[in-house]
Amino acid sequence: MILKILFLLLASCAINTSLADFEIDTDPDINEFIYVSVDLIVPSTTPQINNETTLFIWPGLQPWGHDFEPIGNGVLQPVLTYGSSCAPNQNGIDPYQWWISAQYVNTDGNKTGFMGCFGGDVMTVNEGDTLRIEMVKLATSGTWNQTVLNLSNNKTVWFTMDLGKQAQGRFYLLTEITSLTNPSSSTSSFHFLSLPPEQETSTDESSQTTQITTATTSIIDNPWICSNMTVLQQKDMPGNDMANEQPKTYTECCIWCLSTSGCRGFVWGWPNNTSSFQQSHCWLKSILVAPTSLAQFTSVHF
Ligand SMILES: *[C@@H]1O[C@H](CO)[C@@H](O)[C@H](O)[C@H]1NC(C)=O
Ligand SMILES: *[C@@H]1O[C@H](CO)[C@@H](O)[C@H](O)[C@H]1NC(C)=O
Ligand SMILES: *[C@@H]1O[C@H](CO)[C@@H](O)[C@H](O)[C@H]1NC(C)=O
Ligand SMILES: *[C@@H]1O[C@H](CO)[C@@H](O)[C@H](O)[C@H]1NC(C)=O
Ligand SMILES: *[C@@H]1O[C@H](CO)[C@@H](O)[C@H](O)[C@H]1NC(C)=O
Ligand SMILES: *[C@@H]1O[C@H](CO)[C@@H](O)[C@H](O)[C@H]1NC(C)=O
Ligand SMILES: *[C@@H]1O[C@H](CO)[C@@H](O)[C@H](O)[C@H]1NC(C)=O
Ligand SMILES: *[C@@H]1O[C@H](CO)[C@@H](O)[C@H](O)[C@H]1NC(C)=O
Repeated sequence: MILKILFLLLASCAINTSLADFEIDTDPDINEFIYVSVDLIVPSTTPQINNETTLFIWPGLQPWGHDFEPIGNGVLQPVLTYGSSCAPNQNGIDPYQWWISAQYVNTDGNKTGFMGCFGGDVMTVNEGDTLRIEMVKLATSGTWNQTVLNLSNNKTVWFTMDLGKQAQGRFYLLTEITSLTNPSSSTSSFHFLSLPPEQETSTDESSQTTQITTATTSIIDNPWICSNMTVLQQKDMPGNDMANEQPKTYTECCIWCLSTSGCRGFVWGWPNNTSSFQQSHCWLKSILVAPTSLAQFTSVHF
């Protein structure tokens, strides 16, 4: 059986919280990853780090299971980066902005051709951009193709790496701050805001794969953060609905807007209101509407 994992998440900046990691290990005897998809929203806050540190936010796959040797422990990782790193193709860009490339990094192994930092083209990204990251093992070979797609304009960077028969059985979601002068110290004040924990398993008979849809959750300082949008309490934005659904949590409503092309904002009805029609109701807006005061709504817009 083969696991196929789909993530939807937002990276969100918050101060004074601890490193939030996420890991899924497969059963090494029967499972390995063949496909991972992550939607990553570039944090809307500029990291407060100095010029001798680098911030990394990445989903990654590492070996676990059969054929670990001879390649050894490396990581397939599209790394959203703020600062410098060992990845190739950084020439000419100012590292102190958000940028990303698809990479393979192996600092533990000793096999020629697999030691060091490899990667594809570098793409600078904007705060609030939604990046669709996919890692897929091509069926005909052991080649992994990692792609990073800016959903707003379809710009893509990618990188392929042939890992032969080696099974990739560990999935991680990590944030790291690395000091260039003291690389062993790694901390972070970033964490992930996303859907409440939920996990669905379904079996796709035709391809004999199991698909798990899951999401991470974490405590955040400001539960109203939604990418770089402005949040207005007790305001409505009447009219110009492009879609609506009920019930949705605030976070689900936020993610729905961010992942819907053309969504300019949304209105969310408070769940404690007496009107059952308004409770946890989410309306997406196709254009910006002037906010008006209304007790039981939260309005959010770009
Ligand atoms: C960081 O900035 C300081 C002060 O401007 C400078 O002296 C130092 O060389 C810089 N370090 C790097 C790695 O750019
Ligand atoms: C490479 O690493 C493997 C596994 O750790 C080890 O058995 C082997 O001796 C190493 N080879 C060299 C040349 O260091
Ligand atoms: C992603 O798309 C948005 C909207 O078109 C654009 O503003 C942004 O510059 C794009 N980012 C990259 C890295 O192309
Ligand atoms: C907010 O994010 C959107 C894309 O998600 C971008 O087009 C816009 O420029 C950003 N606004 C600011 C003020 O950063
Ligand atoms: C990897 O993905 C990119 C982007 O989707 C695509 O252009 C490229 O052809 C793929 N490479 C392989 C070997 O499939
Ligand atoms: C991006 O590609 C998708 C699928 O090919 C297409 O439907 C969409 O219109 C494209 N978006 C942009 C902004 O080009
Ligand atoms: C009603 O719900 C909103 C949103 O969850 C909350 O901000 C507000 O404090 C609640 N009001 C009361 C009276 O519970
Ligand atoms: C519920 O909505 C009504 C208006 O429909 C408003 O007067 C009332 O304050 C709201 N209650 C809460 C708890 O938000």
